[in-house]
Amino acid sequence: MRSLLKTVAKTSRTLGGSVTAVMLSGMLMSSPAMADIATTYENSCATCHDSGALGAIKKGDSAGWAKLKQQKGMPALVSSVKNGMIQMPAGGLCDECSDDDYRQLIDYMSQ
Ligand code: HEC
Repeated sequence: MRSLLKTVAKTSRTLGGSVTAVMLSGMLMSSPAMADIATTYENSCATCHDSGALGAIKKGDSAGWAKLKQQKGMPALVSSVKNGMIQMPAGGLCDECSDDDYRQLIDYMSQ
């Protein structure tokens, strides 16, 4: 029994180590894209979505974003940004954003 516990402890330590390594390499691999999205967010969407200016749903309001995604769906949300809404200018102040960028920005704001 005691040796089994030892094995479990050893295995979980090994697992813990490799999980950390995987997370680290994942972070390193995805960092350029993530940094781009964060920068794009800061330069465009943040103008309104950081403070909730003009009634924009705030970054980090995960419940609010989850509800929107569920009600309208991601494709509709992307076209809302592209076409603009009542207060939101078309493109959300990002001229060079692709549909995929908008999807990533929306996911970024949902967190
Ligand atoms: C000038 C302010 C402003 C900027 C900049 C802005 N938004 Fe918005 N956004 C709003 C407002 C306000 C709303 C709420 C709807 C409305 O009144 O227009 C909104 C709503 C949204 C919605 C919900 C759409 C829906 O169908 O309900 C999404 C998605 C969104 N914004 C994404 C973005 C993204 C992505 C960016 C950056 C590329 C961005 N916004 C930049 C003001 C802004």
